[in-house]
Amino acid sequence: MASQLLATKSIVELHEQESSGNQLRRALTATQLTLLGIGGIIGTGIFVLTGTAAAEHAGPALALSFIVAGLGCTFAGLCYAEFAAMIPVSGSAYSYSYATLGEGIAWFIGWNLILEYLFAVATVSVGWSGYAISFLEQVHIHIPAALSNAPLDQGADPLHLVRTGAILNLPAMAIVAAIATICYIGIKQSAAFNSVIVTIKVTVIVLFILFGVSFINTGNWHPFIPPNAGHGVYGWSGIMAASGVIFFAYIGFDAISTAAQEAKNPQRDMPIGILASLVICTVLYVIVSTILTGMVSYKELDVAAPVALALDKYPGLHWLGIPVKLGAVAGMTSVMLVMTIAQARIFFAMARDGLLPPFFGRVHPRFRTPSTGTAITGVTAAIIGGLFPVKVLGELVSIGTLAAFVTVCLGVLILRRTRPDLPRPFRAPWPWFTCSAGAIVCGAMMYSLGAATWWRLAIWTAVGVVVYAVYGYQHSCVRKAANGAASAARPA
Ligand code: ALA
Repeated sequence: MASQLLATKSIVELHEQESSGNQLRRALTATQLTLLGIGGIIGTGIFVLTGTAAAEHAGPALALSFIVAGLGCTFAGLCYAEFAAMIPVSGSAYSYSYATLGEGIAWFIGWNLILEYLFAVATVSVGWSGYAISFLEQVHIHIPAALSNAPLDQGADPLHLVRTGAILNLPAMAIVAAIATICYIGIKQSAAFNSVIVTIKVTVIVLFILFGVSFINTGNWHPFIPPNAGHGVYGWSGIMAASGVIFFAYIGFDAISTAAQEAKNPQRDMPIGILASLVICTVLYVIVSTILTGMVSYKELDVAAPVALALDKYPGLHWLGIPVKLGAVAGMTSVMLVMTIAQARIFFAMARDGLLPPFFGRVHPRFRTPSTGTAITGVTAAIIGGLFPVKVLGELVSIGTLAAFVTVCLGVLILRRTRPDLPRPFRAPWPWFTCSAGAIVCGAMMYSLGAATWWRLAIWTAVGVVVYAVYGYQHSCVRKAANGAASAARPA
């Protein structure tokens, strides 16, 4: 068992597997990869979670939380860039770790990537629903609260969920179904389509910055760090807790690495795409959060659409309300699209390796998409998005992704020592510092998330161990190949 947990796939084998499969067109340049990254990054985090993070945890110091989370992501991004340039295959961190750290870690990362991508689709659908409803209300279309809210929420004891009285969040379910249908029938998210959406969402953010700045009331920034009122509630522990919450806003840069097969020059352009999209988003996030907490007191921001709230508050900014809401809705739509595509590819890679049943990797004969994986992603994400609120889901996605990031950072460091011979077209600078700092900052953000989220991660991991023991361990292609080689070598 132990030897199988440490079994690796050779990098040559990975490359061969990729090129013998359905080769996608290598069309993406560094600029398009950067735009793909921004397409996957900017969404619910900035348009929705900023409100809760400021109101409940950081206060006006939310900008510091964005800097902490941005730093952690930049360190992790450098590690991702090293892996992505070294092993530019689909399957992202799951494939990197299979080639280098062994099946056990690969399973752990793959299982956490499911928590990241699949649950992110559900989370973003809830954020999308909040903005879509607010937009519809502006044009006098009303959807009953019972059909547009989560029926479950975290109770006073965060470990227990309570009923809210609502029935289902139908708009959230509908958008997931629509996105999954698009991915299923293969209307491929072209670089051009993504570029248009990115242009729209970045434009509305820049408009918010340019016009919002004149409505800042500096009194709202005092005290910049409100006095601590318990662990994770204001003060420095609140800043850390908020960074754990808004870390969600950065998730998506790693999804670029699932497009390795479509990059023209992945070894050079993957690192550029990952790092450039991260830097651009960090700068935008820090400015937006500073302006937002200057326009509205952080105490009022605990709402589903905080950026819209800030605009609604000032009559001189009402005209910007509709474009910003439309930009937010369009932006979140592209996040869901990128995440659904990424999740289907992770399922595909894991099924190809025998760690998940083959139907997860089935390719539709006509549409040539990983159709069953896409359908499973859509149905599961729609059910989750229809039942749970954004806070519960967002923190769960964050903790799963952070666990994967910590592993990637440590993996790069370990490989520098154990496999210094591997060709590395991109090398993370000062690896001891970068990898350790990435693991420490991401680990600290994990620590700052609540006990309930840790329990949910523990349950998710336990389910993953059971699935691996019952299925993956028995059907692993690496294990079958090793057993085949062993019986061939045995004397007759
Ligand atoms: N970073 C993505 C978002 O904020 C997941 O929606």
